[in-house]
Amino acid sequence: MTTTATRPGGGKARAAISARTLRTDRWWLAPLVTFIGLGAWVTYATVRVFMHKWFWVEQFHYLTPFYSPCLTDRCGDAALFGTPLPNFFLIPEAAFSLPFLLLFRLTCYYYRKAYYRSFWLSPPACAVPDGHKTYSGETRFPLIFQNAHRYAFYAAVIISVINTWDAALAQSTGLGLGNVILWVNVIMLWAYTLSCHSCRHIAGGRLKHFSKHPVRYRFWTFVSKLNTRHMQLAWITLGTLALTDFYIMGLAAGWYSDLRIIN
Ligand code: FES
Repeated sequence: MTTTATRPGGGKARAAISARTLRTDRWWLAPLVTFIGLGAWVTYATVRVFMHKWFWVEQFHYLTPFYSPCLTDRCGDAALFGTPLPNFFLIPEAAFSLPFLLLFRLTCYYYRKAYYRSFWLSPPACAVPDGHKTYSGETRFPLIFQNAHRYAFYAAVIISVINTWDAALAQSTGLGLGNVILWVNVIMLWAYTLSCHSCRHIAGGRLKHFSKHPVRYRFWTFVSKLNTRHMQLAWITLGTLALTDFYIMGLAAGWYSDLRIIN
């Protein structure tokens, strides 16, 4: 039995329910799995980025995406754009691209939902109260900066082009399992990037008549289909990025050899 509280002005407010939530299902499972998954990935990526080794396989021109573009003296032949960065242990080899990739993922509409729920409990699930007393949404500092997502999208496109170039260069040495892994990762990265909500708006936003813009309409239709899979692509790309990096790390460290299909 519940009663209805009355607002100071006399209007009806929320029902005065003493229970924290009336949900009886395992609503906490999704945020918990997300917390563990994202936490594990961020830990792995941080360790790898500051490891400063096992990122390049000279023989097959395999470069891990975590170190691309490679910009310090440690890069050797992997440095396609020179080596303007100093060899300092706090500076990642890909210090120009990683902040933009981080910004792109942090401000992504899907990841926002994921970490608001699983890390900030704001709220942890539908019909479950917020973990915090106050809520200002994304209208003020610092979350107002989530609006930078549309600009991070352009940077992510440029970095995807560089990743594609890395895969193409590796192709010049023949064909091995490493090439397959690099290409799968690049294709998934493009799918994730193009499925972005900002991309969808760029493709079809602000148009009054689709019939007058058939090319944009076709692209918008394509992006809209990808967009329905944005959450899955967000997780798949975390997987392909980690797998690509781990495979190249193992090759560079000499733990195993590349499975060659064409030499
Ligand atoms: Fe997720 Fe743009 S909304 S990458």
